[in-house]
Amino acid sequence: MSMRIAVFASGGGSNLQALINWFNRDRAAGARVALVIADRECRALERADRAGIERSLIPVRGIEPEELALATLAALEGAAIDVVALAGYLRLVPAAVVDRYRGRIVNIHPSLLPAFGGPGMYGSRVHEAVLRAGVRVTGATVHYVDEAYDEGRPIAQWPVPVFPDDSPETLAARVLRVEHQLYPIALERLVRELQGQEPLPQPEFKFVAAPHDVPALEGMRTAFGLQEEE
Ligand code: GRF
Repeated sequence: MSMRIAVFASGGGSNLQALINWFNRDRAAGARVALVIADRECRALERADRAGIERSLIPVRGIEPEELALATLAALEGAAIDVVALAGYLRLVPAAVVDRYRGRIVNIHPSLLPAFGGPGMYGSRVHEAVLRAGVRVTGATVHYVDEAYDEGRPIAQWPVPVFPDDSPETLAARVLRVEHQLYPIALERLVRELQGQEPLPQPEFKFVAAPHDVPALEGMRTAFGLQEEE
């Protein structure tokens, strides 16, 4: 049975676009992005419109938490959503939603969690903290969502090198390119697992060949068991 994914976003929606490109253009995929929820007018909603995907604007300011939870659950149930993917959603998801979708709700974060995560760690703040700390490796993490920010168990991680001349912007761009590859793959693994298909083996990282490389998509697919090695 094909699964229906809801994506929550607050901003540019480039990860949303990567998920649409992966799932909605490939009819053989076991899932589709079927709903986009945003807390404000943003580029992500425009991307939903362009792709002909149902969208729902649910503002969180000035509304009681219970009301927000009910409105969110109603939107998810109305669209018969099986899996929830947060992609640049800047609000805490109501506990009732987390509870209803436990094990089927995930997020992407632009660092190797548990490093550089938690409340207030979003957007360029993450990359600024990475540069301040002087670490040589950062990355992207897809993880289950629970009631605390960035604390759910990781599903997939991928390392990204930090270079001495990086600014928060150059680093963010390098990590984002990896996010666009990692998120669809991690979600595809989750969907397969939920559909009761044979679990895929855990990846072996084949890290960065050349210093300015990000991993080739083919290499990442192979590492995560989505493709046979040559
Ligand atoms: C990404 O870096 C994601 O990891 C973080 O917020 C950013 C969203 O970017 N949670 P976009 O809206 O998908 O372009």
